[in-house]
Amino acid sequence: MAALSSATLKLELPGVAFITGGASGLGRGVALAFAELGARLAICDINIKGAEELAATINAKFPERAIAIRIDVSNEEQVASAVEATVTRFGRLDYAINSAGLVVAGDAVELIKDTATSDYERTQSVDAKGIFLCMKYQIRQMLKQDVPNYPQASRGVIVNLASRASLEGVPRFGAYCAAKHAVLGLSRVAAVEHAPDNIRVIACCPGLVRTPGHVGAAKEVDDMLLSKMPMGRWGIPDEITDGITFACSTMASFMSGNTLKIDGGMAAC
Ligand SMILES: NC(=O)c1ccc[n+]([C@@H]2O[C@H](COP(=O)([O-])OP(=O)(O)OC[C@H]3O[C@@H](n4cnc5c(N)ncnc54)[C@H](O)[C@@H]3O)[C@@H](O)[C@H]2O)c1
Repeated sequence: MAALSSATLKLELPGVAFITGGASGLGRGVALAFAELGARLAICDINIKGAEELAATINAKFPERAIAIRIDVSNEEQVASAVEATVTRFGRLDYAINSAGLVVAGDAVELIKDTATSDYERTQSVDAKGIFLCMKYQIRQMLKQDVPNYPQASRGVIVNLASRASLEGVPRFGAYCAAKHAVLGLSRVAAVEHAPDNIRVIACCPGLVRTPGHVGAAKEVDDMLLSKMPMGRWGIPDEITDGITFACSTMASFMSGNTLKIDGGMAAC
């Protein structure tokens, strides 16, 4: 008899999620959605006040479901202890959504020839090295765990927030493009390295989405970016969250190493 089709399964996310950048924007949207779908959550952010406020909001509806952890993803010790604190509290780690990142905007967006080396290094440190460090400790934890006992379960799923800037050269975003290309490469390597362990790794590449981190760019920069969006509009955070929840669910159990493009058609141009 055929196994139960995933199409007949309800979208739910039992287990434990570790969400970096969870205090704002896409990470915040993912945290709220994961809570609704049944997950317990560690909301990890350098902005501990924002993370605590979100954890309190979630716990008011789903008691004891969320904790807040202050983390700088570019600091190896902090990343290691945040993963450890999550496992101490909840027992395991099923989903990691690595959303912490710097979206360079406004005057900081420069041609390569004008980019301060310190800005370049800061971007790599958070956006690229941060993903490396988070995956390093998340994978180590996932490898210690059994695969959950339900159909099409994974030992763990990691979704890294890459970008359309992982896929093309965006003028004036040299530092960001370099970091996001690294995110895509790291995600692909981790997916191949750990497919035999039933750990899935996906790079999510959003197009333009209005978030607190993506406001305030010079109008000419916004106009240049928007002109490349075939749908002619910005995305909304829920449109990215929906893709990430799907990618983490058993409905996507055969999906790994791919780029999940949610970009209003931009990547097709
Ligand atoms: N919004 C977009 O249009 C868009 C498009 C493509 C990719 N992305 C990517 O999605 C992710 C989320 O972006 P967003 O738009 O939600 O931005 P956001 O600024 O709203 O959220 C980012 C969060 O990361 C946190 N953070 C920053 N540096 C950190 C650090 N060193 N350690 C821990 N936390 C840190 C911030 O405090 C913030 O809460 C980023 O990686 C971004 O590059 C965003």
